[in-house]
This record gives sequence, structure tokens and C-alpha cells, in this order.
Amino acid sequence: MSYNNLLVADAGGIRTITINRPDQLNALNRETISELDSALTEADANKSVRVLIITGSGAKAFVAGADIKEFAHFSIPEGKALSADGQKKLFDHVENMSKPVIAAVNGFALGGGLELAMSCHFRVASDNARMGLPEVSLGVIPGYGGTQRLARLVGKGKAMEMIMTAGMIKADEALQWGLVNHVVSQADLLAKCNELATAIMKNSPTALAAAIRAVNAGYEPGADGMQREIEEFGKCFGTADFKEGTSAFMEKRKAVFKGE
Ligand code: COA
Repeated sequence: MSYNNLLVADAGGIRTITINRPDQLNALNRETISELDSALTEADANKSVRVLIITGSGAKAFVAGADIKEFAHFSIPEGKALSADGQKKLFDHVENMSKPVIAAVNGFALGGGLELAMSCHFRVASDNARMGLPEVSLGVIPGYGGTQRLARLVGKGKAMEMIMTAGMIKADEALQWGLVNHVVSQADLLAKCNELATAIMKNSPTALAAAIRAVNAGYEPGADGMQREIEEFGKCFGTADFKEGTSAFMEKRKAVFKGE
């Protein structure tokens, strides 16, 4: 599949999706969100894809936000639809992928850019990265899950400060806050993400998918995360990967997982 605003590259089970609008600092317009939706659907269904990395094109930005030029003249219903459609197509979609998704934050991750990074299962940043939710400086609020996911990741007080000041934090501060898991040089960013993806790929795809569902359940309103864990744990016992993983341990060999 080819896209106007994305580059997709595969290497040994790792799929890297690069948002490719560098002259607009990879801002998320409607077409890019729709293409990401299609690319995620395809990657989730494609058995040869085991881990995804999402990054931005160029040396300056991961994603500098939702495309301000596109929504500047929207009405109230259009604004509401923008938020609802975007959350469903992209942000919730990324979070609920059955395969691990790593954000490689290679520069500015602002507004929708930080919201996209926060929807990924975890984040690695380059040392030039700058992160923030500047929406209130535009007279709007984060609408792609930022008010919820930032507070979950860094706590309510820090989230309130970041949202209220509309300020940016540097990569080392994001690391201290727990917003990103690692900070490396820009030159090493994709290598670090690939190293993590390679470690993840040694593990059972069915167990990874179950772990994602169980962790996410703890953040779903009304869902009982502990109960979901019990159910997902139990279901693992009926999988080929569980038989392979436990047999390999007892036979003192490396497991070869096939997934479902
Ligand atoms: N939406 C649409 N276009 C954007 C954009 C966004 N969120 N962020 C950057 N761009 C565009 C700029 O308009 C400019 O395009 P142009 O050359 O056609 O005018 C191009 O990307 C380069 O950006 P520029 O502002 O010239 O770069 P800079 O280095 O001076 O500043 C930023 C970089 C990230 C600080 C600045 O672009 C910025 O503040 N962007 C908006 C961030 C934001 O508020 N995001 C939340 C949106 S809800």
C-alpha cells in the first residue's frame, strides 16, 4: 500500500511508520490520520509484522500537532467531530493495537504529536526532543486524549501544569517525569527502538497482545483491570505459544513462537 503522507519500511518483523510531512513539521491533517488508520489496520492483520515503531520525518519534528490550518475555521460540531473521529481512528487505535507500538520521538512532539506519542505503548526520545500540549495558547484544549493520557502517565499535578502553561519540556525532563522511557542522541534513536523491538520480538505474540489488553483495561472507565488480567492469564493456557514457551523452558532450548 502506498501513502501520500507516510513512509512504511519493514525489517525482520519490525515495521517503521514515518509520518512524512517535514515541511509542515509532520502536522496531523485529516488525510494523514486516515492513512495512519489504514496503515495500523494493515499492520495489525499482517502476521509478519511483530512490532511497530512510529516516528517523524526530518531532524526537527516528531509531529508538531494537529494541523492548525485545517481546523482554524471549524464550528462547534466540526470541532467535536474532529476530536471524536481522531480519537477513534488514530489515538485509541494505536493504544489498542495487538502488537507493541513504540514512539520514536525525534523532535517536537506538541499537541496531537505528544498525544500520538502517549497513545503508543511506550516512548523513546532523542535528546533534541521537546514535548508539550500548547492547545490553550490557541484557545482550545487537547482533544486527542491528552487531558487523560498525560495525567495517567505523569500524574495530575504535572499534567495540569503542562496543559495550563502550554509550555514545552526537554527530553531529560520528560525522562525524569516518566513520560519517555529512554533518551538517546538523534543518530541513535531508531537503533535504540530497534534494539527494544528485537528484545520484544523474542516473546510470544499472543502473550504480548494479552498483556496489552490487560494493562489497557486498567485505564478503561468501568473496566475491572484485575478481572481482565485473570481472564487474559487464563486464556494464555489454551494457546500454542504457552505450550511452546513452557516446553522450551523445560527442554532447555529457546522458544520459537508462532502466535495465533
Ligand atoms: N499545524 C499546521 N502547520 C504547522 C504546525 C501545526 N501544528 N506546526 C508547524 N506547522 C508548519 C508551519 O506553519 C510552517 O509552515 P509554513 O512554512 O507553510 O508557514 C512549518 O510547519 C514550519 O514551522 P515554523 O513555525 O516555521 O517552525 P519554527 O521552527 O519556527 O517553530 C514550532 C516550530 C513547533 C515551535 C512551531 O511550528 C509551532 O509552534 N507549531 C505549532 C505547535 C502547536 O501549537 N501544536 C498544537 C496544535 S493543536
